[in-house]
Amino acid sequence: MSERHDWHLGPTSGVVPMRSLHREDREAIRRHLLSLAPQDRYLRFGYMASDEQIQHYLDTIDFDRDEVFGIFNRHLELIAMAHLAFSTHPDAAACAEFGVSVTAHARGRGYGGRLFDRAAIRARNEGVSLLFIHALSENAAMIRIARKAGAQVEREGNESEAHLRLPPADLDSRVSDLVQDQVAETDYRLKQQARTFWRFLEVLQEVRQGVRSGRGQTGH
Ligand SMILES: CC(C)(COP(=O)(O)OP(=O)(O)OC[C@H]1O[C@@H](n2cnc3c(N)ncnc32)[C@H](O)[C@@H]1OP(=O)(O)O)[C@@H](O)C(=O)NCCC(=O)NCCS
Repeated sequence: MSERHDWHLGPTSGVVPMRSLHREDREAIRRHLLSLAPQDRYLRFGYMASDEQIQHYLDTIDFDRDEVFGIFNRHLELIAMAHLAFSTHPDAAACAEFGVSVTAHARGRGYGGRLFDRAAIRARNEGVSLLFIHALSENAAMIRIARKAGAQVEREGNESEAHLRLPPADLDSRVSDLVQDQVAETDYRLKQQARTFWRFLEVLQEVRQGVRSGRGQTGH
């Protein structure tokens, strides 16, 4: 089965900060991926990846070449991530592959779709003209995301290959990329500050309680 759609990555309503992830974020990525249930690992990687295989995948992410995006909750836990892997094949230099996962409890909020839009804009700006998504045919959510963006989806047995033809970068895509990066960095820093402050308050509370129980012990 093959369908053809025109490019129409539409603007998404509401801001969801998606941060570029780096080597320093590997532990957060590891925790996120290891938290995926066996069926989700199967959908994400195309096989029931073991913990060791996930670790191996993580070790092979090239943070210099590829783009990895993530969405953090206010506890700074990574609840969604996408990996845009640029082709290293000399005959397919303008191609990239997209892979994504969203923590089970955070699904259905549009994160998967937004990460896809984000990755597509970055891919355009990096000169990619064909974006590939490997999804199992049963993966209705992923296929929906790809179709909505205008991808051509080809099915063969229980495998689906989707590819999206990207228009060349323009001023809009470059500005959008920059703004989203800055929004995400600011959001992350605010969450870091909020977390630090909560910890500080907790310590303060413990000190107060310690003082109180100390008073109790000494009879004051
Ligand atoms: C696929 C996945 C990333 C989707 O994440 P998500 O944040 O829930 O996706 P969204 O909320 O953006 O939803 C995407 C679309 O799929 C639709 N959808 C979600 N679940 C669906 C389902 N079970 N059946 C049909 N459509 C579904 C949503 O309604 C939405 O469509 P809409 O925008 O028209 O409303 C997530 O389910 C996941 O992590 N799965 C395991 C890993 C995986 O499959 N990765 C993809 C292969 S690389």
